[in-house]
Formats: sequence, structure tokens, C-alpha cells
Amino acid sequence: MGYYEVEGGYAIDGEFAVRGSKNAVLPILAATVLVDDEVVLENCPQIADFFVSLEILQELGCSVKQEERTVTINSKGLFRNEIQEDMVSKMRSSVLFLGALLGRTKKAVMGHPGGCTIGRRPIDLHLRAFEKMGVRMEEKEGIFYCHAPLLLGYHLYLDYPSVGATENILLLAVKAEGTTVIHNAAREPEITALVRFLRSCGAEIYGEGTPTIMIEGVTQLHGTVFTIPFDRIEAGTLLCAAAMTGGKLHLKNAERQYMEQTLEVLEQTGCGLRYEEEAIYLQAPTRLLSDFTIATGPYPAFPTDMQPIMMSLLTLAKGTCMISETVFEARFRHAEELCRMGANIQMHRRNAAVFGVEKLYGTKVEASDLRGGAALLLAALAAEGTSQVYGNIYIERGYEKIEDVLTFLGGRVHLHV
Ligand code: EPZ
Repeated sequence: MGYYEVEGGYAIDGEFAVRGSKNAVLPILAATVLVDDEVVLENCPQIADFFVSLEILQELGCSVKQEERTVTINSKGLFRNEIQEDMVSKMRSSVLFLGALLGRTKKAVMGHPGGCTIGRRPIDLHLRAFEKMGVRMEEKEGIFYCHAPLLLGYHLYLDYPSVGATENILLLAVKAEGTTVIHNAAREPEITALVRFLRSCGAEIYGEGTPTIMIEGVTQLHGTVFTIPFDRIEAGTLLCAAAMTGGKLHLKNAERQYMEQTLEVLEQTGCGLRYEEEAIYLQAPTRLLSDFTIATGPYPAFPTDMQPIMMSLLTLAKGTCMISETVFEARFRHAEELCRMGANIQMHRRNAAVFGVEKLYGTKVEASDLRGGAALLLAALAAEGTSQVYGNIYIERGYEKIEDVLTFLGGRVHLHV
């Protein structure tokens, strides 16, 4: 396993244009299976999960042409509706191909996407909705065999506003017969991006960004050219990096309206923030402050994906912050590693008390998931001395060449593979 060698003590400073969103591009790539016409996606992030998705599309028989951040996909030639076990286990969001394949071919065979270190991550909400819309499913040795002789619209009530379940139902419903309504739908900006993409292909969908989304099934979708919106978690990660290292950052392509909760917490820590049309300026304070609580939750609450990253920042803030992680049941693995760098964090089930310290110290630490890895990288940037952050394979899933970005902005980060 490779590692990032980080020399701490250098401010993250300067100007950077945020790239396209991982959690928007992945469902949109799955959605291209529904469109037997040419689709051009621009501003795609060149991250590991993006390339795995392109591999899956090619295996299904779609034509894929990628030139840097632009990919041209045509699924006219799609001839398979089975996704290999190894591809599914590589990337959890491959489960989104289930809805798309059923919506296109009425059949799908796929392994269970499984959980990961942040939680069990079941797909019961997806499958229960699918059954109500006419999908017949059989699970044999962890493989799902699904077929839908007749896909009918349905009024669905989600027990939890699951992002993935909302996306999968959207993909199944756009070409189902009749009207589907999703009650208690997820409201994340990535849902809005998926709906805008599908609408640009001719889908009839209303209510994105609210708890109730209505889909009128159509028989045909046509090609489109679509630009992937910015990654609000990459933006939040870089703002926290500047805040923790005494820097000042001018972030371009970052829209304040989708980052309100993260920005609110950064203001509470004493950061100076200024906003322009699609730009955010942050000036770090001489000492970060924290005497507040954070509870993660479904959008527009504080995003769970920012929890590890904000926890890293708070380890150096003067005061105590109580963090409750309400979305995933095991998303504190990074806290143990932060304590090995000198942080003072006490955890109990889904709650963590972060008692700020004056300094963190560089050492060898190990990431076990994407955002936890980012948290460790940021701690290493702010620490005294040098760190080795192992687990680049997790971090590369969601951050494109993060070592180059942080070095470009004044950090000392080198990837050893
Ligand atoms: C998406 O995961 C994101 N991934 C996650 O980002 C993000 O943390 C999460 O939404 C919440 O915002 C992508 O978009 C690719 P959920 P997803 O379904 O869809 C439970 C990152 O770091 N649940 O909203 O899997 C589930 O166990 C990743 O970029 C069920 O119980 O999230 C969890 O506790 C990490 N049954 C909660 O709901 C289900 O059928 C939220 O899951 C589905 C979910």
C-alpha cells in the first residue's frame, strides 16, 4: 500500500478551482445506460471511482471515449445486463447500475455492493422500492437476479432519506409506466444534479431538492451535453486545510448555497469568510475556536462526508466540540489515528468529544476510508514534523491528485507508491 509523505507546518494558501463532484458524476454515469443515444459529460473528476464506472459501462457494451474531463458515452450498443462481482465490490455506488439496467433492459444481475469501514450500508430501501414497482428479485450466494416484466409507477415512502435509494428509484422510474412519487426523498445537491441531467435527456421529473419527487414515466430518452457541478466536499476539504494551517484560500467554482452548514461551522471557528458569485475566500484565524456541537444528517444538515475532515480541524481548536454522527454507524475510525498524532478525542458510540490541543505531531498513520484519509492528510499538513499517511487507494477514490493540489497550494506532500 502506498503512502503520502507530508512535511507539516506549511500554510495552504492561494487560489484553486474546485473540480467536478464525485457524488454527482457517479449516478449520472449509471444514468447514461438509460439513454441509447450520445451523451457528453463535461467537468468530470478524474478520480478512481470515475474510471471504475467507465470500465463498467464498457463491459456492458456502451461506447466510451474519455478525453481528460470530458467523456462521450453511447449506450446504444449495450448488450449485457450483468455486473461482475469484482467490479461491484470495487465501488459501492455500482449499485446504482441496478436501477439503470432494469429501467433500460428490464433485467439485471449484480453482486451485493457490501458495506465498508463506515458502516454496514444495506440496500434494503432500494430493494423494497424496486419490488413495489414490479421488480422480481432472487438472491443466490450474494448475487441478485432481478427482472421486471412490467415496471409500474408507485407512491413510495422511504423510511430514511437515503441518497442512493432516491437515485436508484429515479433511474428505475424515468422509463416506468405511469407516475412514481418518492416521499421522504433525499434532498442532496447531487440528487438535483441527477434530475437536471435526466431532464436534459427528456425525463419528466418534478420536486428535486424537496422531500417529495414526482416522476412521469417516458418511453424514450435522447442524448445531451451536461456539465458536472462542483464537488462541495472537495471544496470543504480545501477550506479546512487552509483554516488548519493558518492560510488564506480563494476557491473558485464553489457555490456558497450548497455549503451553508460547513461554512457556518468554519465561521464559528473564527475563520474570516467572504463570498462572491461562485467563489469563496477564507482567511484562517491565528487560533481556531470551538465550543459548539455538530450533528451530521441528511441535507441540508451538516454533511456526514465533512465530519472526519472537520473533526481533524477541531483537534487544534481552542475549546471542546461535541460531534454526533447520525448517518453512519462506524464513521470514527480516523479519530483513533488522529489521537496517535496527539489529538484528544473521546468517543462513545456515535458521539465524539474533541478537546482541542495546541499541537499535533507527525507520525505514521493509516487511512481506512476516503474521508477519514483526507482528515489524516490535513492533520499531517498542520502537524509538527513529518507524517506518512498510508491508504492512498482510499483517498484517490474521491480526490484527484490531492498531493499535487496541496503542493500547488503551499503544502509539502509527496505520494510514494
Ligand atoms: C451517498 O452514499 C454518498 N456516496 C456518501 O458519500 C454519503 O456519505 C451518503 O450518500 C450520505 O450523504 C455516493 O453518493 C456515491 P445513504 P449512500 O443511502 O447513498 C442507510 C463519500 O465519502 N441505508 O444516504 O450509500 C445507510 O446504511 C461517500 O463520498 C439503509 O439503511 O448513502 C446509512 O446509514 C461516503 N438502507 C444511511 O442510510 C438503504 O437501503 C445513509 O445512506 C440505504 C441506506
